[in-house]
Amino acid sequence: MNKSYPNTRMRRNRSAKFVRNLVRETSFSVNDLIYPVFILPGKNKQEPIKSMPGKKRYSVDMLLPIIGKLHKKGLNAIALFPVIGKEKKSKDAKEAFNPRGLVQSAVKKIKKEYPNLGIITDIALDPFTLSGHDGIVDSKGYVLNDKTVKVLTKQALSHAEAGADIVAPSDMMDGRILAIRDVFEKNKFHNTKILSYAAKYASNFYGPFRDAVDSSKNLNDSSKETYQMDFANITEASLEINLDINEGADMVIIKPGLPYLDIVAKIKNKFSIPIFSYHVSGEYSMIKSAALKGCIDEKSSVLEAMYCFKRAGCNAVLTYYTPEIIKWLDGNK
Ligand code: PBG
Repeated sequence: MNKSYPNTRMRRNRSAKFVRNLVRETSFSVNDLIYPVFILPGKNKQEPIKSMPGKKRYSVDMLLPIIGKLHKKGLNAIALFPVIGKEKKSKDAKEAFNPRGLVQSAVKKIKKEYPNLGIITDIALDPFTLSGHDGIVDSKGYVLNDKTVKVLTKQALSHAEAGADIVAPSDMMDGRILAIRDVFEKNKFHNTKILSYAAKYASNFYGPFRDAVDSSKNLNDSSKETYQMDFANITEASLEINLDINEGADMVIIKPGLPYLDIVAKIKNKFSIPIFSYHVSGEYSMIKSAALKGCIDEKSSVLEAMYCFKRAGCNAVLTYYTPEIIKWLDGNK
């Protein structure tokens, strides 16, 4: 069959809204959203995040009504990121597995209030180490793999015990999915899910996040390139994801988001596992800043970006724009 103009006019199917709706290939809804939130210790606290205009960090008591409202409108899950006081950071990051730590107690409080809201916790040591790195460093500042995995495993178990539904290792150590799966099986957490940041690139788009969790000062210009992936690579992502599937991951994250959708599309065609994408802090701040300057229309640009994630093959997206998107989707009804 070799149809050509004028037999084929591509614009026919675009000529009216009804037909555009009928031929639309992907859909996007509140079901596709995960809201990443930054939590502060203490009570009655909220602090704006300078490098993420419009976003704040909250103590758990202040966060509860905010996520409660979103959950009522259909939000399925949140991802928690703790802001840890200087006095609790250490070389061995032992605060990471404190059963009464900030994340562990936040999980308990949120679960008690909203038992059906999925809670995803971050497994990585960067909020807890003096170096600001995701793992334990040696005297030269090199992140030690196996020593770190031991601590990550304790951290993951403490989150599962607190009631986390999904743990999400974002540290990029080797073998941590297997170690965590093993400890979950041994402790009968058969249904606690592991969302592996399987292909996480050493990206410049994480800058605002590091401000939000106060780790950029600690990092002090040292990079994460000895454990996060080189942004020039694509086949390496397949290898990473294959390993994590075999080690027991239930779903994988590819991160950052929009500039990395080629990786999502490739992985989607190759592996049968749910893929989430993380529309990271720098991507949020780029759209937000352009919108604040009047350079682009915020709502339509953000919604377009969400369809792009779906078109590439993502099952869900972690985005700081979640509350705004839910409000916009609500307005469309
Ligand atoms: C660290 C972590 C990072 C993000 C999530 N977990 C930053 C990093 O690797 O330095 C970035 C998220 C974002 O930029 O929004 N474990």
